[in-house]
Amino acid sequence: MSDLLVVKDLRKVYETNDRQLELFKDLSFTMEDREFVSIIGPSGCGKSTLLRLIAGLDKPTSGSIVFQGQKVINENLGISMVFQSFGLFPWLNVIDNVAIGLEAKGMNKKDRYEIAKKYIEKVGLDGYEETYPSELSGGMKQRVGVARALAVTPTLLCMDEPFSALDALTAENLREEVLLLWEDKEFPPDSVLMVTHNVEEAVYMSTRILVLSEKPAKLIKDVKISLDRPRNKKSEEFQEYTDLIYSCLT
Ligand SMILES: Nc1ncnc2c1ncn2[C@@H]1O[C@H](COP(=O)(O)OP(=O)(O)OP(=O)(O)O)[C@@H](O)[C@H]1O
Ligand SMILES: [Mg+2]
Repeated sequence: MSDLLVVKDLRKVYETNDRQLELFKDLSFTMEDREFVSIIGPSGCGKSTLLRLIAGLDKPTSGSIVFQGQKVINENLGISMVFQSFGLFPWLNVIDNVAIGLEAKGMNKKDRYEIAKKYIEKVGLDGYEETYPSELSGGMKQRVGVARALAVTPTLLCMDEPFSALDALTAENLREEVLLLWEDKEFPPDSVLMVTHNVEEAVYMSTRILVLSEKPAKLIKDVKISLDRPRNKKSEEFQEYTDLIYSCLT
């Protein structure tokens, strides 16, 4: 295993009208190849901001983020993102929203549509190719967001509360789909970094869970989840892990 992502002494300060908002102070952690890491922490502690920094969509105030040996300075083709608030383009229909990241890879339209269709099917939105975001439910929008992020075959898939807007059954299906893709060594993504508020979901899916404190967020716990897959949510060991994570949060 080798370091895939190294976050070192990260600080992010937002300057608003009359005050400074310090989100993290010297936050450091690393992620290795093939890990599935979940980040849990109080609302507003900066989890979404952290993912945006890692994906190169925003800049840290100080500290560094290194992905595959290279400092992240702007958007990286190896990292894709599922946004908490979907981040769809309202003027594009479903297939164009899913295919948009493939344009940056210099692919022709026929190939882009073929790949986009495959991922639209994977997330269960067959038949909605021509539909516009305004006509979709929150859960459907999030499935479009997941399809778009997967379509670019990222090395690292970043997901910001990807399943929280979905009904229980859809969430369950999509979790399995993401796990299958992650477990399949032939296909990207090789590694996943997910923000979630759902402790059970984190224990079910992750190889490791990072628990953050209130802002300025520090890493308060780094828990390796050593459970066989598929994981049994009813097992005693599973319960022990969820209890441990809950105890860190309270
Ligand atoms: N562009 C910005 N300018 C100023 N403040 C910001 C900006 N983006 C986020 N913030 C503030 O930074 C803090 C952290 O926001 P962030 O969305 O990263 O939190 P979060 O941990 O993802 O919260 P949640 O769990 O509710 O999604 C919030 O107080 C938010 O108001
Ligand atoms: Mg957030």
